Amino acid sequence: MIKVITYGTFDLLHIGHIRLLERAKALGNYLIVGVTADDYDKSRGKINVQQTLIERIEAVRALGIADEIIVEEYEGQKIDDIKKYNIDIFAIGSDWKGKFDYLNEFCKVIYLERTKGISSSQIRDEKSKIKLGLVGDSSYLIKFAKECFFVNGVEIVGICTNNVNLYKNKLNIKYYTDDFEELLKQVDSVYIYSNPLERYRLVKRALENKKNVMCESPITLDSNETKELFSLAKKNKCLLQENIKTAYVTAYNRMLLLVKTGKIGNVVSLDATCTSLDRQEGSVNWNSIYRWGPTTLLPVLQILGTNYKSIDIITSNTNKLDFTKINFLYEHSVAAIKVSNKIKSEGEMIISGTEGYIYIPAPWWKTDYFEIRYEDSSQNKKYFYQLNGEGIRYQIAAFVHALQINQSFEYIENDISICISKIMNLFSTKNIKI
Ligand code: CTP
Repeated sequence: MIKVITYGTFDLLHIGHIRLLERAKALGNYLIVGVTADDYDKSRGKINVQQTLIERIEAVRALGIADEIIVEEYEGQKIDDIKKYNIDIFAIGSDWKGKFDYLNEFCKVIYLERTKGISSSQIRDEKSKIKLGLVGDSSYLIKFAKECFFVNGVEIVGICTNNVNLYKNKLNIKYYTDDFEELLKQVDSVYIYSNPLERYRLVKRALENKKNVMCESPITLDSNETKELFSLAKKNKCLLQENIKTAYVTAYNRMLLLVKTGKIGNVVSLDATCTSLDRQEGSVNWNSIYRWGPTTLLPVLQILGTNYKSIDIITSNTNKLDFTKINFLYEHSVAAIKVSNKIKSEGEMIISGTEGYIYIPAPWWKTDYFEIRYEDSSQNKKYFYQLNGEGIRYQIAAFVHALQINQSFEYIENDISICISKIMNLFSTKNIKI
């Protein structure tokens, strides 16, 4: 018997996949198909896959071509599989030509001509292209626009800004100089990265016009306003997604799950610091609490909850110093966060529990790595997860995916967004400049 093996993601199964599988099967008598696991795809930068692993496996199974289906979970697994299943032929599409020659040591490698004119990426892209408008006057939007290219199904239509010069020669898109209403007419979704004071008005206008919204956090500086915007989004059947890129980072999400499963016992204390000395051209100089506050508050509120007993804000906001420290007191725990735009400190996070602690080195807000440490250091464990694009492309992919399947996975729960606005309000009432 001649055994053949092939691998793929097989997202949104199409004729190219079917032809590939038929030809692979015809090379022998028994075909094994390896379908890639979600995590493995993510780790190799494939972030747009729309169907779950189960759906993709079912689609391949339903074709009736494969004799056996396995899951591909890690780099290098192909060698293990070829040995384990006694494979004679490894077959793959010609887009991979040369890439798997190293497998010749273990079996015969055959590259099959790829079917022209079709791919999963193309289907995802065409399925429902989101017309996105950008809003704001910050060089961050240049980075954001570049990240959109990694996500299937988004087209940036234009940008509404007061500062066209900031983007000239960097963003080749249409400018709507301070004309938000005109931009709204051309798009179905917007990403708002404007001054925090402006966001409530802009988000509201967009939602009233039934546009989907991604808004940088904080969405507003008042919890009632944020509540009102979520209700409006619901009423108008629009998506309102708060963007804190850390919330979309795989390592951060896995860390949250480990905390929730009790890996460090009961959490008793959380310390997180975010600082930057960002003076590049076009960087926005909002007070550090507006710039870094939501990021730093995110783990506090997601791990310890929104029902703190007291909150103590220590802030210094002068031309020379922009520094804020917030202490939280909960029934059984405490938290402390520090943010600044004008001093530099170690941007790490430590979550301490009754059995151990989690250490995330700087910069913890865009990490691909963390450690769980115990009294008995032989029990320590290190966790690594691939991170591309600081989490920005994942939040764009989450937005597109939520719109495509008409259901959003709440990376940031509404009550947390509302609580962030509430804490921001405490600052604005302290008369702090934005
Ligand atoms: N394939 C093919 N012809 C196509 C598309 C894919 O022969 N038009 C083959 C690939 O070469 C691979 C297998 O089908 O051997 C699975 O490919 P996969 O990456 O799942 O499909 P793509 O359509 O290429 O997906 P994407 O656009 O996400 O890269």
